[in-house]
Order: sequence, then C-alpha cells, then structure tokens
Amino acid sequence: MTALTVRSLAVRYGSLQALADVSWEVDRGEILGIIGPNGAGKSSSFAAVTNVVRHTGKVRLFGEDTRGVPTQQLARRGLRRTFQQNSFFGGLSVLENAMTAFQVERGTGLGGSIVTPWREARARRECRAAARDLLAEFGIGPAHHDTRPDDLPYGLQRVLSVVLAHGAGAKVLLVDEPAAGVGGDDMRALADLLRELRTRGLAVVLIEHHMDLVMEIVDRLLVIDRGEPVAYGPPDEVQQDPAVLEAYLGQTA
Ligand SMILES: Nc1ncnc2c1ncn2[C@@H]1O[C@H](COP(=O)(O)OP(=O)(O)O)[C@@H](O)[C@H]1O
Ligand SMILES: [Mg+2]
Repeated sequence: MTALTVRSLAVRYGSLQALADVSWEVDRGEILGIIGPNGAGKSSSFAAVTNVVRHTGKVRLFGEDTRGVPTQQLARRGLRRTFQQNSFFGGLSVLENAMTAFQVERGTGLGGSIVTPWREARARRECRAAARDLLAEFGIGPAHHDTRPDDLPYGLQRVLSVVLAHGAGAKVLLVDEPAAGVGGDDMRALADLLRELRTRGLAVVLIEHHMDLVMEIVDRLLVIDRGEPVAYGPPDEVQQDPAVLEAYLGQTA
C-alpha cells in the first residue's frame, strides 16, 4: 500500500485554476520531487493534500480516503508539512517549539482523560526530555535550545523547520522549499537530513528550486507548469524530456 496517493488533484481560487488534474504517489523510503516555475501550483498541492484549501480529486493516506479529515487529525496520522517561510512560534524558545511538535502527536488532550496537576507536570518533564533528544538527534545541540528560533543561523532555522514538522511520528513529510535562501554547506546539511528521513522509512515530498539538490536526492520527479502536469518519472528521464526543457527551463531541446 502506497503511503500517499494523489489522483486528479485540482485547486481553484475564484476564477484562477491553480492546479488541474495532477497525480502522484510516494511510498515510505522514497523522496518525490516536485518542481515548476513560480505560481505553478506546487504549494497549493500541499495545501490541498492537507485539506487546508478546497479541492477536487482523490487523496489516500495509507489507503484511506482523506476527504473531510481535519488537518490536525491528518497530522496525527503522520501527514505533516513545512512551509516556504519559517513558521515558528516566535515567542517560544527552540526547545519550547520542539515541545509543541510533540503535542501534535499526543493530540491536544481536550477529548482525553482529565489529568491531575501532578501528572501534568510529569508529562511536561517527559515532553521536554523528548524534545531535547529530538533536537540533539538532528544536530541542534543544547547551546541552541534556549534561544529564539529567529536568532539561529539561517541554515539551522531551515533544518529546525523540517525537524519540527517531523516531530517523532511523521510518516509522510511534505517539505516546501527547505533550501530557499541557503547556500552550499547548509544545503548539504538539508540534503543529508532529508536522506536520513528517507532511510528511516518516511515518505518525503520535496518542493525545491535548487535543481542540483533535487537531482541529487529524489527518487522520482514531477514537473508542473501553470497548474498542469508536464512530466513524471525518474529524475534523469524527466530532465531529458523536451516538454520539461521547454516548459520549465523556457528553452527548446
Ligand atoms: N490563497 C490563495 N488565494 C488566491 N490565489 C492563490 C492563493 N494561493 C496561491 N494562489 C495563486 O495560485 C497560483 C499557484 O500558487 P502556488 O501554489 O503558491 O504556486 P507555487 O508554490 O508553485 O509557486 C498562483 O497564481 C498564486 O498566485
Ligand atoms: Mg510555493
């Protein structure tokens, strides 16, 4: 059973058809790349898959139709995304941000049992310890835990975005332009992180502008242009596709 299957996805904003008839799938232990010019509909496809915008088409998460399932519940089932812009809780420290990542996993507790203050304190301690481990595991050491995310070096902020989205229980991770605005070494760190997540069995969907990063790490590649699918397949084949050269690179073969 495929981790995430998308069939004939379409998104409309008023009179603008932002996405039309786009299909793809990604399995655990795979990275699917999505590329296309600005405004192609890449981010909208993430918004649609996570039920943030209205859309038509079919989306299945581990075989189950996601229609009508609230975004938060999809997150609890393991479908998470990052945003093109960092979206940290600016008033919280790096460690506190990581603690909120675990709250996604446990649910927000409203429907759960009533906990005593004593249990609450213990849960909080455990959550803090888990958050520390999570950060350390992905190379964000204790020296950074008490700072605000915005004060981290930019490359590390991008890594943090992915780590927070992953939390401890992501199964399908949608990553929107993680390398936007970063240079060489930081890009390598992001590539290593995404590869590590693949090795751990996550299904990763990567929207990215940096072609060298994309070509280096994706297992399959989807190209869209003005909302329409242009090519889909192994990256080396897609790269040679005349339709891609024309649509994406604005040149003929
Ligand atoms: N919330 C929205 N409301 C109206 N139009 C939108 C909205 N989000 C995106 N768009 C438009 O939809 C098209 C696709 O945008 P987007 O999915 O962000 O593309 P990409 O991520 O490929 O750059 C663009 O023309 C954009 O201006
Ligand atoms: Mg975008």
